[in-house]
Amino acid sequence: MIPMSFNPENRSTMRRRTTSGRKFALTLTACVVLASTFVAAEDLVNPVAGDPVAAGKGEELFARNCQQCHNSRGKGGKCPQLVRGAWGPGGANSDGFMYRVIAGGRPGTQMGAFGNHLTNDEIWQIVTFLREEAKRVKAASGKSEDDDHNW
Ligand code: HEC
Repeated sequence: MIPMSFNPENRSTMRRRTTSGRKFALTLTACVVLASTFVAAEDLVNPVAGDPVAAGKGEELFARNCQQCHNSRGKGGKCPQLVRGAWGPGGANSDGFMYRVIAGGRPGTQMGAFGNHLTNDEIWQIVTFLREEAKRVKAASGKSEDDDHNW
């Protein structure tokens, strides 16, 4: 009698099963990861978005805590800029994502966690300031240099 594992038909069936099982597990993992991302993003809504008073406080906090690395008004330099591209108006990075980077930092980099140093309100004020600044940067970049001198 031929042992099961020597039967080529059986083996290919087994391989097919294993592959689809693995695909299923991957799909499931992807769904769980995606779902938790959406839930987490939904949990963190900026309570003071667009509030000029909060943005003003955020500007002061940014100058004291962040500017030495991220440059004045978050325009970058030796560390990432925080007001254009994915951080710009309508960009991929949400307020909640920004909040989490500031609160938790980026372990293993110079970006420290500010969660113990700043209150929730203060972190949201900084996010609000950077978001308002991003709108100003975008509005200004729409103008050519000629427009600036043409007044
Ligand atoms: C000592 C320097 C330093 C200070 C102070 C600092 N950061 Fe950072 N920050 C960094 C570095 C370096 C990175 C890039 C980390 C990495 O490699 O992912 C970073 C990354 C970030 C990012 C993610 C950028 C991206 O595109 O992924 C955000 C948002 C951010 N910082 C906000 C802040 C804010 C707000 C403050 C002040 C409360 C602050 N940082 C203070 C050095 C600093």
